[in-house]
Amino acid sequence: MPDTPDSPDSSDSPRARLQALRALLQRHAHLYHVLDAPEVPDAQYDAWWLELLQLEAQHPEWVAPDSPSQRVGAPVREGFAPVAHRVPMLSIRTETDTQPSGALAFDARLRKELGLSPTDPELAYLAEPKFDGLAISLRYEAGLLVQAATRGDGATGEDVTHSVRTISTIPLRLDERVRPAPARLEVRGEVFMRRADFEALNERQRQRIAAGAKGEKTFVNPRNAAAGAVRQLDPAITAERSLSFFAYGWGEIDWQADAAAAGAGAGAGAGAGVGAGEVGAAAQAGAPSAPPFASQHEGLLALRDWGLPVFELVQRCCGAQELVQYHQRIGALRDTLPFDIDGVVYKVDRLDLQQRLGYVTREPRWALAHKYPAQEQSTQVLAIEVQVGRTGKLTPVARLAPVFVGGVTVTNATLHNAEEVQRKDVRVGDTVIVRRAGDVIPEVVGVLPDLGASGAARGPAWQMPLACPVCGSALLREPDSPEQRCGAGLSCPAQRKQALWHAVSRRALNIEGLGDKLIEQLVDTGKVCSLPDLYRLNALDLAGLERMADKSALNLMQAIEASRRTTLARLLYALGIRHVGERTAKDLARHFGSLQRLQQASEEELLQVPDVGPVVAQSVHDFFRQPPHLELLEQLRQCGLHWSEGEGEGEGAPALPLAGQTLVLTGTLPTLSREQAQALIEAAGGKVSGSVSKKTAYVVAGSEAGSKLERARELGLPVLDEAGLRALLKAEAD
Ligand code: IVH
Repeated sequence: MPDTPDSPDSSDSPRARLQALRALLQRHAHLYHVLDAPEVPDAQYDAWWLELLQLEAQHPEWVAPDSPSQRVGAPVREGFAPVAHRVPMLSIRTETDTQPSGALAFDARLRKELGLSPTDPELAYLAEPKFDGLAISLRYEAGLLVQAATRGDGATGEDVTHSVRTISTIPLRLDERVRPAPARLEVRGEVFMRRADFEALNERQRQRIAAGAKGEKTFVNPRNAAAGAVRQLDPAITAERSLSFFAYGWGEIDWQADAAAAGAGAGAGAGAGVGAGEVGAAAQAGAPSAPPFASQHEGLLALRDWGLPVFELVQRCCGAQELVQYHQRIGALRDTLPFDIDGVVYKVDRLDLQQRLGYVTREPRWALAHKYPAQEQSTQVLAIEVQVGRTGKLTPVARLAPVFVGGVTVTNATLHNAEEVQRKDVRVGDTVIVRRAGDVIPEVVGVLPDLGASGAARGPAWQMPLACPVCGSALLREPDSPEQRCGAGLSCPAQRKQALWHAVSRRALNIEGLGDKLIEQLVDTGKVCSLPDLYRLNALDLAGLERMADKSALNLMQAIEASRRTTLARLLYALGIRHVGERTAKDLARHFGSLQRLQQASEEELLQVPDVGPVVAQSVHDFFRQPPHLELLEQLRQCGLHWSEGEGEGEGAPALPLAGQTLVLTGTLPTLSREQAQALIEAAGGKVSGSVSKKTAYVVAGSEAGSKLERARELGLPVLDEAGLRALLKAEAD
C-alpha cells in the first residue's frame, strides 16, 4: 500500500495511529453502509478494523465512546423511517484464520466453557454458508408480512418494507398448511444478489450510461448492488434488480394473538432479549410464548414449513472434525454457487446451550463466522503490457506488486481489452482492486481513486499500441467486438509460440517437460517454426539450450517420441481450430471416426454432430479448405504422428444419454446455477423447456419451486432434486 493520507505511516505514535484508524474506518464505513459505494476491498477494511481493535485492547483508556468499535453497522439514512428492533440484530465473531485450526479453536473454546470433553456428543452445531449480502429482519403478524428492516446499528434499522416486498421468494403470507404460524414472528436472513443478476444489472447500467442517462453507476460487487437495491426509495427500481433471500434465524416469536394487537404486554416476553436466532427464545423454559423448537435446526425447519427460503446446504455437524469438513466442502463449492459467500457460519445447535454461552459485547459466544481467503485485494500497477494470444487476440495485462488473493500470490491480472482499460481508466502507478475467484484468471476490477500515489499526479491514460507489439503487423478488428487481433497468423512469433504451447499441452499431444520457456527458446533460436519441426528435433538441437541437462534432453526426446502415437480427438484439439475446444474435438472424432471423413464433411454434415452449431461448423469446414493446414497435416503424418481411427457414429450413432428427452428446471438448486444445470442436461443430449407438459421427462426442482412443481405433481411426472439430476446424468452416462 503506498503511503497516502488515507493509509498513515504505521511508524506514527500508537495514539496518532488510533485516531487515523478511526477516521479511516468512519469514512469507509460511511461509503460502505450509507452510500453503498465502498472504495476499498473488504480485506483492507477488515485489516484496519482489526488493527483498531488490537490497539484499543492494548490501551483501553483510549477507547472513546464515539470510536467505530462502539457500534455495529451504520446509522439510518435519510428518507427511511427508523425501526427499533425488538430483539437486537447482533453481529457475529469472525475467525480470519482460514485454516482448519480456526474451527478447532472455536470448538475447543466452547467445550471448555461448557465443561464438556472433546468428544462429548452433547455439543452439535448447525453450519451454513455466510451469504454475502445484507441482513434483513422480516416481521410477520398474524401470518402477514408487515415490516422489513435493515440491521442498521443493530438496535435501530431502516424500514425497507416497500423494497423487500418486491423479492419474489419472500412470502407475503406465511404458509400454515404444515404448522400454524405464531401471532408475531421476526425472521432474520440475508438479502443478496446472484452473480448472474449482478452481471445483468451492470450490463444494463453500462447501457444506460452509454445512452447518456444521468446519475446512473455500475456496482462494484453483488453485495453492494443488493444493498443499493434494498435501500431504494422507489420499489420499482428494486424489483428490476432481482434480489434473492435466505432465512437463517429469527428474532421475536410470540404465540399469543392478543399480545399482537396490544403491541407489547405479556406476549412481548419472547422479545425481552431472547428470540432464538439471535438469542434462544425456547430457552425461556415455561414461558407461554416459547417456540416449539429446541434447536437452531428445528427452527430452520419451521421457517421452511412456513414457506421461507432456507438454503439446502445447511448441515448439522457433530464435533470439530465435521466443522472442518463442512468448511472444506463448501469452500470447494464456493465458485460453483450462483452467489457470493465469504465464509461459513457455525452455530451451537441447542438453544439451551446457546443461552448458557451468552454474549460478549454484541457478539454471541455460540456463533462463529469462519472465513475463506479474500477474493479481492488492493495492490499497485507496475506496468501494463499487451499479450498476443494463440489466435492473435491482444490482451492488456497489468503487472502488479505481488499480492495474496484468492489463496495465491498474484503478480499479473487481465484487463481483458482496450475498451475495458479505458472504461476503468487503469494507469501505471494506480492502486487497483484485483479479484481472483477459483481457477479464473485474476482480473483488475477497478481503480481506487483515493489511494493513488501520494500527492503525485497520475500517469498518462493508457493507450493500446497501434500495431502488434510482437511482430509489428497491422491489427484487425471485427465489427461489434472490442477485441483486436494481430493479423499475421503463424508468422507472428507470439502466435507461433502460443500455438505450439497449446498443441503440446496436456489435453492435446501431451508432451511432458515442454514448457513455455523452452518453446520460447526453440522459436527464438529458429529451431522450431511449426509443430512438425518439433518432431524433427534431435538431442543435439536440445543440448544447446539453456537449462537443458543431458538427462532432461533425453527425457524430452522420449516425451516427444511418445506423443507421436495419439488419438484423433487429441490431434483435432491440438490443431487449434477456432471454436473447437476439447469437448467439440471429442464429439467430432466420435462422430466421424476418421480424419478423412471429417475433412470431407460439408457444413450440413458437420451440423449433424450434437452441440455443433453454424459457427463451429463453418470454422471446421474452412479450416480443412486451407492449403497450409492440409500441408501441416501431411507433414505431421510424415513425421510419424499416427492415431487410431474407427467407423465413427455418423447418423446411426447410439443416442446420447438424455437424447430426445425434455426436462424442466424450477426453483433454486443448491449448487448449480440454471445455466450450469442446462449445460449439463444439454451436454447429455437433453433439452430444457420453460413449461411443464405431458411430454416433460423430468422436472428438476430446487428450493422455492413454484407452479411448475405443482403442475408436475398434477401430471404425476418424476420430480428430481439436484442430487437426483446428477444421479440421472451419471447413471445414463455409465
Ligand atoms: S447469523 C447472531 N447466519 O453475517 C448471529 N449471519 O456479522 C446473527 N450472515 O449481519 C447472524 N450469512 O448479515 C448468520 N448464515 C448466516 C449468515 C449471516 C450471512 C451475515 C449477516 C450478519 C453478518 C454477521
